[in-house]
Amino acid sequence: MTETPHRSLRLRLQTETRASHQDLDQSVSQFDLRKRDGFELFLRMQSVALRAISPHAAPLPITECINDLLARAEADLREIGTWEHCDAMEIGSLHPLAINYVIAGSRLGTKVLRTRWLSADDPVVRGANSYFSAPSYIELWKSFCETSNGMPAAGDVADQIVCDADKIFKLYRTCAPAPQITNGVVHA
Ligand code: HEM
Repeated sequence: MTETPHRSLRLRLQTETRASHQDLDQSVSQFDLRKRDGFELFLRMQSVALRAISPHAAPLPITECINDLLARAEADLREIGTWEHCDAMEIGSLHPLAINYVIAGSRLGTKVLRTRWLSADDPVVRGANSYFSAPSYIELWKSFCETSNGMPAAGDVADQIVCDADKIFKLYRTCAPAPQITNGVVHA
């Protein structure tokens, strides 16, 4: 069923993934980014989720951004002394535009998180500054908006993109309690 009142795919994505985004924001907000433990949970969530998404992104322009963010998150985990290898989780195929939406969009919310991290007193937390000094990749967001604003909100392709974007939000949510994930297996 593809009856929707939205004027474009861009607006449909925003509306129909809002609940998953809010759910994720709530989980991520529980990580205290000023403290080593909370910052580690955040970085692990990024590392596990980006590792799962990365194989599905090539050869999109967003791949460079994904691999950069992944390298930065893992550099910070090494810096705070808690990095350990984790096999990539299997997420299945993802529509490229769904990847563009969630990854480029996530850079918008990073400003809020960076401000929280900047107020850390712990020199180890502040010393692990790779992830929060990443570029905004705003040109990827602008390009996504241009493309999706011009696409119909209804139809099989639109349904697939919205479904995959929601799947990516839920992947991040699953990765949020990251200490419970070992070698790609999620433990209850
Ligand atoms: C506590 C954590 C988070 C907060 C506080 C947050 C906050 C925000 C804010 C304020 C915006 C709107 C920015 C603007 O319009 O200028 C935004 C947009 C967005 N964020 Fe988040 N975010 C968080 C985590 C995430 C995560 C982990 C992801 C995905 C991995 C994500 C994906 C997105 C997307 C896709 C958009 C664009 C929404 C749209 O306009 O359609 N966010 N976020």
